[in-house]
Amino acid sequence: MKRDILSVADMQNDLEDIIDLSIKLKKDRTIKFSEKKILGMIFEKPSTRTRISLEAAMEQLNGHAIYLSPKDMHLGDGETIADTARVMSRFLDVISYRAFDYKNVRELAKYSTVPVLNALDNREHPMQIVADFMTIMEKKHRLEGLKMAYIGDGNNMANSLLIGAAITGMDISVACPEHHDPDQDLLYRARDIALKTGSRIEIVRDPRTAVDSSDIVYTDVWVSMGEESEREKKEKAFKNFQVNEDLVDFADRNYIFMHCLPARRGLEVTDGVIDGIHSVVFDEAENRLYSEKGVIYTVLS
Ligand code: CP
Ligand code: NVA
Repeated sequence: MKRDILSVADMQNDLEDIIDLSIKLKKDRTIKFSEKKILGMIFEKPSTRTRISLEAAMEQLNGHAIYLSPKDMHLGDGETIADTARVMSRFLDVISYRAFDYKNVRELAKYSTVPVLNALDNREHPMQIVADFMTIMEKKHRLEGLKMAYIGDGNNMANSLLIGAAITGMDISVACPEHHDPDQDLLYRARDIALKTGSRIEIVRDPRTAVDSSDIVYTDVWVSMGEESEREKKEKAFKNFQVNEDLVDFADRNYIFMHCLPARRGLEVTDGVIDGIHSVVFDEAENRLYSEKGVIYTVLS
């Protein structure tokens, strides 16, 4: 049976195995597929990290990646997602999809006979989570029992971090303004998983409460791709949610600062924090390469 990764919850039973494999693939760059594998990557939105790391990962693994924009495919002029999936499955070994609407990623996976990887949608960003938790494992040598503070918008990153934390037994405190909470269904899902792992999950309104004694301080943009028309309104709503030098003073003295990037410097994070000694954002970005190798290797084996 093929294995899709559409949500972090699709790695509930083996997220830590995938992280271990990714760390192994980082140490040993000679590990490759015995026969060439082809990835087709549909991107409805821009990408620096995801596109480049997926292409590089496939090249290093003795594979190849094809970049596809809906503008250049019949998907963009009316061919159904179902037919697109059926056809792509005849050519490819694995498909990644960055979409505006998570329902379209699910539709593609439903009709594809090869694995589908969610390369970010409006609800989740599961591939980023593998890189993030791999980075935490490298820096802190454990996941269970740590405390993460997520400050800002209850967006796709917040949703996926909640599920990742629940799976790994990490505590997570999300600070966001009212009306910008994480997705309710995914929050319930995270809480349900947390019942088994003991992870403590809270949503708070004061960033200082979230950051208090935290091992990891995480933020993301206030305005996600596709929400540009809400910029003015959101920047007002989030003005007290900036990760700055005063806020990180509340964190554990050995805290790490993380951001999936791209960052809007001066808005959700100051230069002082993102360029400071606690920041691991570029190691985190580098790990996209190895974690993607780990994910692709897992779904193709
Ligand atoms: N973090 C991330 O997914 O970055 P890109 O949008 O550049 O792919
Ligand atoms: N929340 C951001 C993440 C970018 C990697 C967005 O969806 O634009």
